[in-house]
Amino acid sequence: MPIEQTLILIKPDGMRRQLTGLTIDRLDAAGLELVAAKMVSVSTELAEKHYAEHVGKPFYPNLIKYIRGEFHAFPDHRVLAMVYRGEGCIAKVREVAGATNPEQAKPGTIRGSFGRVTTAGQFENVLHASANAADAAREVALWFKTAEILP
Ligand SMILES: Nc1ncnc2c1ncn2[C@@H]1O[C@H](COP(=O)(O)OP(=O)(O)OP(=O)(O)O)[C@@H](O)[C@H]1O
Ligand SMILES: [Mg+2]
Repeated sequence: MPIEQTLILIKPDGMRRQLTGLTIDRLDAAGLELVAAKMVSVSTELAEKHYAEHVGKPFYPNLIKYIRGEFHAFPDHRVLAMVYRGEGCIAKVREVAGATNPEQAKPGTIRGSFGRVTTAGQFENVLHASANAADAAREVALWFKTAEILP
């Protein structure tokens, strides 16, 4: 399997619910290497670039609010952005994360254990993980400068 990089974001619900340590533990246990990390205050511009593929979908406006932390009574725009590296890293992280819809995520995955669907139908699924090699390359370059990633 090739050595890959993938972008992980602890989303605002994961930050607020203090699921950062747990998520990092599980990715470490999967044999993946953390090669970049920083707190990011997510602007509307960054959110729109990150989720460009979802423009026009019914859940898009709320998705932008969600990733910016605006569903909470005390808006907090921070997410923890990380790059992981390892063999088959993209698929391994998706496996640990679980399915997009927390109600369909396998028990024991991060989303299966800790994600939820709000009464308004919003998925609060704790983390973002790049879906494939092309997305990973685009997303890592969007969130990180080359110099911020361990060589
Ligand atoms: N049907 C839906 N209803 C509500 N929110 C949704 C729906 N589908 C996707 N989303 C939201 O949009 C995000 C991006 O959707 P995508 O299809 O890329 O899923 P994903 O790749 O599993 O998640 P992510 O990109 O966040 O890792 C999801 O994580 C979720 O927050
Ligand atoms: Mg996705």
